[in-house]
Amino acid sequence: MSRVTLTVNGRTVSGECEDRTLLVHFIREKLGLTGTHVGCDTNQCGACVIHMDGKSIKSCSLLAVQASGSNITTIEGLAANGELHPVQAAFKEHHGLQCGFCTPGMVMTAVDMISRHGGALDEKTVRAELDGNICRCTGYHNIVKAVLSANAEMHAAKQAAE
Ligand code: FES
Ligand code: FES
Repeated sequence: MSRVTLTVNGRTVSGECEDRTLLVHFIREKLGLTGTHVGCDTNQCGACVIHMDGKSIKSCSLLAVQASGSNITTIEGLAANGELHPVQAAFKEHHGLQCGFCTPGMVMTAVDMISRHGGALDEKTVRAELDGNICRCTGYHNIVKAVLSANAEMHAAKQAAE
């Protein structure tokens, strides 16, 4: 057993787990943050995407002990002051989800993508970067629309603030 200490959504948390525990299972079972989903456990579906030290990662792809000391954001940490994050709001507005199983991972991937590309994000890039996130319901079209819409809105807000 090992002790894992993380900063998760701005709070320091700590817990014991077996050395073989995947980060996604630590987040869901030890921390009770079940918005991060497990769709495959084999690094394919992207339902488990979170941010670690500001970058999107598949949380089934590393052990909890490997993440100890890092700064984690999960889907539960995106909304602020009772307001959805602009990417969450865009998924809602553009019907970017149906069953919702893939949605937390899609949103976390999209937030990272937008922060890396800013206003330069286009449809081809969005489709290429969503390659690691599988959706079995939507056909992706409205997901791509939602990501592009959030990108435009966030870029405009950033420019207005400068
Ligand atoms: S559960 Fe991590 S990629 Fe599918
Ligand atoms: S909305 Fe059902 S898997 Fe994507």
